[in-house]
Amino acid sequence: MISEKQLDSLVARLFDEIRFTEEPAGLYDPLRYMIRIGGKRIRPRLCLTAYSFYSETFDEGILEPAAALEVFHSFTLMHDDIMDRSPLRRGMPTVWKKWNEDTAILSGDVMLIDAYQRIAKAPRAVMDRVLSLFSRTAAQVCDGQQYDMDFESVEEVPMEEYNKMIGLKTAVLLACSAGMGAIIGGASEPECEALYNYGYELGMAFQVADDYLDAFGDEKVFGKPIGGDIVNGKKSWLTVRTMEKTPDKGAFLTAFALPADTPERKAAKIAAVKDIYLACGVDRDAKEEVVRFTDRAMDAVSGIGFGPLKMEVLRRFAEKLVGRAK
Ligand code: IPE
Ligand code: IPE
Ligand code: MG
Ligand code: MG
Ligand code: MG
Repeated sequence: MISEKQLDSLVARLFDEIRFTEEPAGLYDPLRYMIRIGGKRIRPRLCLTAYSFYSETFDEGILEPAAALEVFHSFTLMHDDIMDRSPLRRGMPTVWKKWNEDTAILSGDVMLIDAYQRIAKAPRAVMDRVLSLFSRTAAQVCDGQQYDMDFESVEEVPMEEYNKMIGLKTAVLLACSAGMGAIIGGASEPECEALYNYGYELGMAFQVADDYLDAFGDEKVFGKPIGGDIVNGKKSWLTVRTMEKTPDKGAFLTAFALPADTPERKAAKIAAVKDIYLACGVDRDAKEEVVRFTDRAMDAVSGIGFGPLKMEVLRRFAEKLVGRAK
C-alpha cells in the first residue's frame, strides 16, 4: 500500500515528467497549459490508491492509464468551459479565453486521443476490460454533459433526474478511476465492483460539493468564478433543492430568470438567488448531502473484507473530499 506522502510525490513526478507531442505548438501548447496549471488530480490519485492495494510496483502499465484519466478529465474541462462560457479555471484564464474557441475545441479533441494512447499502455492481460470500462465511461460523461445543457431550459428538474445527470457527467469518471486501478492491480471481481461503487458515490459527493462551492466558495481558493451556475441557469443541487423546499416557487423562478447582461445585473442576480438559497437553508442541506454520499461511499467498500489499513486509506480519501474548499 502507498502512503499519502508517497502518493503526493508519485503524482507530482508523473505530471512533471509527462511529455506530449511538440508540434504544432498551437495545438499542443493549450494541452500542456491545462496539465501544467494543475488541479487536484483526484482521478489519478484514486486510481493509484486502488491499485496500491494490490501491487507495490508502479510501472508504465499503471502510470500511463492513471495519467490518461487526468488528461481525459482536463479535456472535458476544456470543452466544458466553452459550453459554460467560463473565463477562469484552476485560478487561470480558460483555454478558450486565453486562445480562442477553435483552439479549445481542437486541443480538447487531441487530448482525448492522447488519453486513449495512454490507456493502451495498460497490461495486455486486462486491456479488454480497461478499454471497455474507459470507453463506456467517456460516452457516459458526454451523456451527462448533454443532460446538464438540456436542463438549462427546463424550469424544474426533479432530484432524481439531477442525480442521474451528475452520476453521468461526474461520478462515473471517479468510479472508473478507482475501478481501473483495481483491475490493473489484479483485484477480484467483487473488489473491482466495490471500488467502482466507492468512486461513484464519492463522485456524487464531489459534484454536490462543487455546486455548493460555485455559489458559496471563495473564488481565490476555488479557482472558478463564483455564481457561474446561477448566471448560466444551471440546475445545480442548490436550485433543485430550493424548488423542493421553497414556499414561493414563483419568487425563486423570477430571481433565477433575472438578466445578467452587465456586471451590475450579474452581481444583483447572484445576490438575489443566493438570498433565497440561504432563506431556504439549502446551503446546509448541501453540506449534509455531501456527507450522506460520502457515507454511502464507505458503505460500498464495507463488507468486502478490506482490512483496517485499507479502510482507513479510503476513509481519509473521502474525508479530504468532504472538507474541500477547492
Ligand atoms: C471539476 O473537477 C469538474 C467537476 C467534476 C466538478 P475538479 O474539481 O476535479 O477539477 P480540477 O481538476 O481539480 O481542476
Ligand atoms: C463539470 O461540471 C463536469 C464535466 C466537466 C464533465 P461543471 O460544469 O460543474 O464543472 P466546473 O464547475 O466547470 O468545473
Ligand atoms: Mg458544465
Ligand atoms: Mg463548468
Ligand atoms: Mg461546477
